[in-house]
Amino acid sequence: MAKFKHHIFICQNTREAGNPRGCCNPDGKSPFIKLFKEALRAKGLEGVVRANKAGCLDHCEHGPMVVIYPDELWYGRVDESDIQPIVDGLASGKPLERLLLKEDCINTSSCEHKAAKT
Ligand code: FES
Repeated sequence: MAKFKHHIFICQNTREAGNPRGCCNPDGKSPFIKLFKEALRAKGLEGVVRANKAGCLDHCEHGPMVVIYPDELWYGRVDESDIQPIVDGLASGKPLERLLLKEDCINTSSCEHKAAKT
């Protein structure tokens, strides 16, 4: 079996309403996994790129969150209409720049958005 070239980790974490951290899947009914799989299939990337459910990626303040490895592409504030462009970007090698988190927002406690939520 060939190795996957990319893994798309899609946060599916749910927290109770009113939690100050928020979450990426408030009602537990996110269609993201299904939509990513459909977009990959439509692009002929099944077996090349895998869409994975993920728990909290610790970027709740930027959610809904998606991260793609091994490219280290951290996408924030993703909505359904962004899914096909994200997959198209994987196929073309051109990431969807407008949704990429800024470098100083990734895994830092000094992120201005994190500070605003806590
Ligand atoms: S709940 Fe999605 S990143 Fe934390």
